[in-house]
Amino acid sequence: MAISSTDIRQQFIEFFQKKEHQFVRSSSVVPTDDPTLLFTNAGMNQFKSYFLNKESPKYLRATNSQKCIRVSGKHNDLEEVGVDNYHHTFFEMLGNWSFGDYYKKEAISWAWELLTEVWKLDKNRLWVTIYKDDDEAGEIWKTVTDVNPDRILKFAEKDNFWEMGDTGPCGPCTEIHYFVGDDLSKQEARGVNVEDLYREIWNLVFIQYNRTADGKLNDLPVKHVDTGMGLERILSTVNGIKDHYGTDLFKPIIDKIEEISSIKIGVPHRVIADHLRMLSFSIADGALPSNEGRGYVLRRVLRRASRFGRLLDLDKPFIYSLVSTLVDVMGHAFPEVKEKQSHIEKVIQAEESSFNETLDRGLEVFSRITKSLSPGEVIQGDDAFKLYDTYGFPLDLTELLARENNFTVDVVRFNECMAEQKDRARASGKFIHISEDADWTVLQKELSTEFTGYETLENSANVIKYIQDGEIYKIVLDKTPFYAESGGQIGDIGLLTADNFSFKVEDVQKSGDEFIHIGTIEKGDIQSVQIVNAKINENRRQQIRRNHTATHLLHQSLRMIVGDHVQQAGSLVTADSLRFDLTHYEQISKNQIDKLEKCVNGVILQNIAVETTLKEFDEAREEGAVGLFGEKYGDIVRVVNIPGFSKELCGGTHVNRTGDIGGIKIISESALASGIRRLVAVSGDAIQTLMNRQEQVISEIRKELKCSEDEISSRIQSLINDKKNLERETKDLRQSSMTGEIDELVSDAENLGKCRLVVQKVDDPGDLRELGDQFRQAFKTKGAALIGTIQKGKPMVMCAVTDDLISQIQAGTVVKEMGGVMGGGGGGKPHLATAGGNDIHLLQDALEHGKSLIQSLLQK
Ligand code: SER
Repeated sequence: MAISSTDIRQQFIEFFQKKEHQFVRSSSVVPTDDPTLLFTNAGMNQFKSYFLNKESPKYLRATNSQKCIRVSGKHNDLEEVGVDNYHHTFFEMLGNWSFGDYYKKEAISWAWELLTEVWKLDKNRLWVTIYKDDDEAGEIWKTVTDVNPDRILKFAEKDNFWEMGDTGPCGPCTEIHYFVGDDLSKQEARGVNVEDLYREIWNLVFIQYNRTADGKLNDLPVKHVDTGMGLERILSTVNGIKDHYGTDLFKPIIDKIEEISSIKIGVPHRVIADHLRMLSFSIADGALPSNEGRGYVLRRVLRRASRFGRLLDLDKPFIYSLVSTLVDVMGHAFPEVKEKQSHIEKVIQAEESSFNETLDRGLEVFSRITKSLSPGEVIQGDDAFKLYDTYGFPLDLTELLARENNFTVDVVRFNECMAEQKDRARASGKFIHISEDADWTVLQKELSTEFTGYETLENSANVIKYIQDGEIYKIVLDKTPFYAESGGQIGDIGLLTADNFSFKVEDVQKSGDEFIHIGTIEKGDIQSVQIVNAKINENRRQQIRRNHTATHLLHQSLRMIVGDHVQQAGSLVTADSLRFDLTHYEQISKNQIDKLEKCVNGVILQNIAVETTLKEFDEAREEGAVGLFGEKYGDIVRVVNIPGFSKELCGGTHVNRTGDIGGIKIISESALASGIRRLVAVSGDAIQTLMNRQEQVISEIRKELKCSEDEISSRIQSLINDKKNLERETKDLRQSSMTGEIDELVSDAENLGKCRLVVQKVDDPGDLRELGDQFRQAFKTKGAALIGTIQKGKPMVMCAVTDDLISQIQAGTVVKEMGGVMGGGGGGKPHLATAGGNDIHLLQDALEHGKSLIQSLLQK
């Protein structure tokens, strides 16, 4: 009887609970407070501060099953996934920990006990590795377990020194490996850590150092134990299954993929099943596909899975439809995937759909690019960049396709293209660009600018340096109240003045520690100026402050109303409006917009005093201040706190009290990219401007419609109805006058013996087929009509034939040739057909051609 994953997980945890370990819930796969990690990559992540002695542990022993993702940074298994059957991007790590409590002896003897006594693994298949200098561990293995001493092997740093990332807690480790081969006699020490048949199943790390950013190992005050065993590996080992995808954790997903594709298991099934788990768990924990950082990792993984779907002929979105199976498998152990199921499905489906639009074309372009290459040759960086930029192929997808076809990619050139694109974007976004190496006139050396603008709007300052480029000047001051554009808030405008000198500041940018005032000289000559009075435009600044604080209120309200998956994806704070881009997969409804406005305006009405303080980064994060992912923060950060409502890391300028904002109104909601929405809102004075404009529009409408405001909607409705009625009447009139004309044309028709024929050019009659039917009715028998007209600048022809003649004259054939004469085409039924062309000058020729064709058909 197979042991289920649920039982294995439970047995592991209970084993350590009996040994006085506290069970701790798995932390999120999206780390909330560790800027060194994109994803949780080991069970020990959530205990990092205990190891580093930054926090005293709540318990001395812990055990859990941690959700882990290894697709970026130091631990990245992406390329192995699917190619082999035991590496994963997402997996569960069973672990036990000692925080300064027990050490090597207990860790080793318990691991051996669980494996060989509880799960009864064959000792003749087990191997042990230790760090080359760790004789202590070697001795313990020999004394506290009955492992065959010949099976204890020494390895260097690469295999037996574990580190969580480039920095952080680390130490020597001892690992337990299991031989999965069929023939026990074929085991050899040199296969361990080399061959696939020897699977590492458990890693016991003895954490005793902290690696700092300078690469140094520093001793920790106390020593800890950190062990990790992949659930997927131990599950298949205990059950004697080599392929993880055959265990109960994956089998139902593989079965479903086989069912929808009708293709038996292979690499694509494994990749898709693996990636489905990574995507679902990270989305459940709040991540979303995007173009940057963590979100881009999700996007890459999803696009990779989509492309493997193509290998199974799955060319419509399908990954989302596997989520329900995953929920069946994992939902009881991790309720978050069950709770967020519909959110996960929607996000994946939206992302699949948008990539599907370009995937096939991208794959075609890839084939075209590589058609002329021979195996072993290099795909140009420019081509890889084109695939990225135009068809959304992440570099690793192009590399994967390249590997499969025996090519490589010029990654260096690809990265250059990326950098060039960023430069172009930067240059076009700048107010003005003056080459960096241009010569500045320097008055004072090596000074940086002090920003006084949080407290004051005006101060006197020394000019440090300046530079001219045509009409435009840039001036750097030693201190300034002018805010330089950053964090989405635009720069201030204002004036720098001195005796007989006036400079209009139109933008301010930061370069290192210097604030560069950019603008034009209104009066005087900069050369005679050393000290200026710097004064910002106060009204504009006030409006910017309102919009900036309103942005914080909106951000928090979005998290409360739309969901806590909402993250800021971009922001622009100007005097006129605020623009906020956020991660969300569907339109924000009118009802949600109303709630958002109500929530923000509610906090404005409470008139809460806004607090700004400088704090250490760690302290701010511990207090729950929201920072932006991907943003670099220094050790000391500024925290903008609206007590009881929102707390963000922010360097911008804010109002003193929320009441100063006056109120906000959201004026638009739109899609910016897949998974990103954009809101635009106004606050303060702008609301009145907005209301005035709307009032004016309404009053103009009222004047035109001569009605009250309440009647506008019904008046417009009745106008629309009137218009429809009039259109119908006009059409009827046109038709009845046309009927008269048709009768006349039919009675004047040329008699060709067996058939009467009308050949006529008319003004656009609207529906040509309707006209054809009218001719057929007017003729009743023995008649045909060839009508030419011009519709929307193009020549059109119609041929109608009475039923008794269609055995001789097929309208479809006739118009096809006529269309050909006009450089176009067309066709239809034997009794009625139309065709169009490109050149109106050929309409007459077409009619004549049609006529002679009919004549010759009649003679047959
Ligand atoms: N942190 C170690 C690992 O991830 C042991 O848990 O392998």
